[in-house]
Formats: sequence, structure tokens, C-alpha cells
Amino acid sequence: MKIAILGTGYVGLTTGICLSEIGHYVTCIDINEQKIKNLQVGISPIYEPGLDELLVKNALEERLFFTSSFSEGLESAEIIIIAVGTPQRNDGAADLSYLEGAAVHIGTHIQPNTVVVIKSTVPVGTNEYIKDLIQKNCPKEISFEIVSNPEFLRQGSAIKDTMKADRIVIGSENEQAREKIKEMYKPLNVPFIMTNIRSAEMIKYASNAFLASKISYINEISNLCEAVGANVEDVAKGMGKDFRIGEAFLHAGIGYGGSCFPKDVKALLYTAKLNGVNFGFLNEVIAINDHQHELLVEKALKRFGSLAGKKIALLGLSFKPETDDMREAPSIKISRALLSLGAKVSAYDPVAIENAKHILGETIEYSSSVKEAVNNADAVFIVTEWNEFKELDLKSVTESMKNPIIFDGRNCILDSKLRDCGTVEYYPIGKPSILINVM
Ligand code: UDX
Repeated sequence: MKIAILGTGYVGLTTGICLSEIGHYVTCIDINEQKIKNLQVGISPIYEPGLDELLVKNALEERLFFTSSFSEGLESAEIIIIAVGTPQRNDGAADLSYLEGAAVHIGTHIQPNTVVVIKSTVPVGTNEYIKDLIQKNCPKEISFEIVSNPEFLRQGSAIKDTMKADRIVIGSENEQAREKIKEMYKPLNVPFIMTNIRSAEMIKYASNAFLASKISYINEISNLCEAVGANVEDVAKGMGKDFRIGEAFLHAGIGYGGSCFPKDVKALLYTAKLNGVNFGFLNEVIAINDHQHELLVEKALKRFGSLAGKKIALLGLSFKPETDDMREAPSIKISRALLSLGAKVSAYDPVAIENAKHILGETIEYSSSVKEAVNNADAVFIVTEWNEFKELDLKSVTESMKNPIIFDGRNCILDSKLRDCGTVEYYPIGKPSILINVM
């Protein structure tokens, strides 16, 4: 099939690469000419495991193309997939302006009988609105269909999540259009959920808000565990073995971040309000998460009394491992809070430093290794659970610090590692602290 994809962000680029990998001819379109020029020579704008190899492979095999020309990309397409961003507006609603821009271009170039797929995360009712907008921008009346096909990939495992998805949701009022999109995905051999447009739109928000709620729930349980002397990891394990609960997304930490959960929870809340439904529960999910972002600073304040003049080493800046994405990363709030309390921050991340500089500028120090970041530090904050940090030689880390004090925001250091590292004060999330004093 000949497919055009609008938007070469995480979702658009991964989808384009995966659809070409299963044999389709895919043209990815983006208004950012520099991004397109880079992609044309095999340079990806994002760090995502496995993506670069498939990008180059499918481009060389002439199934994957990049252009900033809408006419070139859209006029030969039998399926057009919209995967542009829907960032958060100040009032919490989803900003649809990129989608509206895409609709104008599609209206100008669309050919009869094309199926337009909206993959961007959009509030209920948006597919119908965009269909009308495309129609309004068509020079003449033309017949085309619209399909809602939300995306569930995670950053850091985007290729795997797309190639081996749990489900593919296809929402349309037109059976032929639904079947066409089913056909497009058939080689992936993934279960389909066929539904109408509004339910498909809702599935995405309901899923993300549920996962965010699960995280806030276990995080609040972890705070209670600390207060009563229980261990949240054992509690999560004990809960997760119940198949009705499930083990995933019960990892307590310093809260969720990223480009999806924070904005999608707020957008769902906005939709509820707009439709007269009191979904106040989601306000609690957000409040717990906001508090969780402050936890390491709170714990350090309690330990030190004052953080003025203290050097804090942040290990990890990206919102989660295996990505360089800094959107809504807890490291941003943590850095700002530490600076406002007079602390000095030295940070290390395997891949996110360049992106962090765009947000935090030169307010903090950036280190090129863990060793450099922790040197003479008063405390270490583990902010992102990169494998590199789990495998650290803790003894050499603590020996080079001023005080061997670790606040682990992701519970990623094994007890056995701690026992081998000599004198250390270790403060995890939701379980008892470990204080080892080797004379
Ligand atoms: C998420 C959804 O999982 C995905 O389906 C959707 O398409 C986009 O949003 P992503 O943001 O890439 O994906 O990452 P995810 O792995 O879901 O983690 C989101 C946040 O939750 C991260 O900040 C992570 O650290 C946090 N998290 C996750 C926890 O704190 N505890 C957990 O148990 C799981």
C-alpha cells in the first residue's frame, strides 16, 4: 500500500519505519525542512533503540521516503496517517493547531477514496471535526473516510511496541475504511479492537489516565509504607500477582513524566468538565504526582536541615531510561527546587544532556560521567533508572563523595550492592532506609 504520514515525531517516525518494514511504501512528511534533510541521509531526530538501523534499511530498500512537499507526499497516497503533536494548552485542553494545519494540506491534495487515519492523541469528537475541516479545504466535493487509530507505543521501546503491540484500535463509522486499515496492519499479526470513532478516541485517554492513576496509587501506597514501616516492593509484588491487578506499572518512584501521561490526564479532566462530568479523582492523581516529584528534595532537606551550599549529584535527567526526552521530566523540577534552596547541582545522563541544556541552561553543571558528577558531592539523587546506574561500582562512587549519601528515586540499587559498598546512607522510596557504618 502507498501510505503518507504527516509528522515525524516519535509516533509518526516509528509508525512510518514499521509500516515500511512490513512491506508498505511510506512517505513521511514534515514541515521542518532540516529534519527532513537529516532523515533523507539517515539521521534520526530522536534517540530510540533500534530505530536508526530500520530507518537506513528501509530507505535503502526504497520503501521509506521523506519530504517536506505536501503535494509530493499526499497525492499518491491511498492512506494518509496524521501523527502530528497535540501539546497541552494553558487551560489543560489539547492544542489542535498542528492537526488543523494538517487538515488544510490534506484538503488541498487528497485524492478520491483515500482513508485518513488520525493517530495523534485527540479528544473525543476531534476526528469528526477534522473530517469536516478537510472537506472544507477540498477544492471540490470528494469522498474520503476517516479512521481513529490511537497509538500506544512507549518511548524507549517504540519499535518493539509497534511491531508487537498488545492491540490495534480501529475506530470508524465506515466498514470498508476499517477493513482497509486492518489490511494495512495485517502482517503485524496483532489482535484488533474494531469500534466506532468516539470509543477509539476515548480508549487512548482512558488507558493513559488509568496507567497514570496506577502509578499515583502505588506512589501514595509507598508513602504510607514509609510511614508504617512496610516495604512497597513486597507490597507491589503481592498485589501484582493477582491477575485482576497485574504486576506492570506498580513501580513506586518519583512520579510519572514524559510527553503523554501529564498532558493526557489533564486533557481527559478537561473533557469531563466540558461535558459536565465530575472526574475529581484525576485531580488527586495529578496532585500525588506533583508531590512525588518533590520527594527527593524533601528527604534531603530532612536529612541535612539546609541544602544551602551542598553539592547534589543528579544521576539521570530524561523522564525515563532509553530516551533523551526531557518533556515533564522530574529532573527539571528537582533541579529548580535544589537551586532555589541554594544547592549546587551536577548532573549526568547517558543521552539527555543536550536536551536538558535547552530547558535548564547553564543553571546546573553537566558532567560527562558518573564519576565526574559524584566527585565531592554531599549526596547523590538517582532520578532515572538507567542500567548504567544499576550496575555502578558503588564503592568507588561513595568513596569519591564528600558524604556517602544516596537518595534513590527509582529503587534501582540492589541491597546486595549496598552491602558491598562500605559506609553508606541509602534512602529509597517506600521502604526502610539502609544505614551502613563501616569503621
Ligand atoms: C506512555 C504509555 O505507556 C504509552 O502507551 C503511550 O502511548 C504514551 O505514554 P511513555 O510516556 O513513553 O508511554 O512511558 P512509560 O513507560 O509508560 O512511562 C511513563 C512514566 O511513568 C515515566 O515517567 C515512568 O518513569 C513512570 N512509571 C512507569 C513509573 O513511575 N512507575 C511505573 O511502574 C511505570
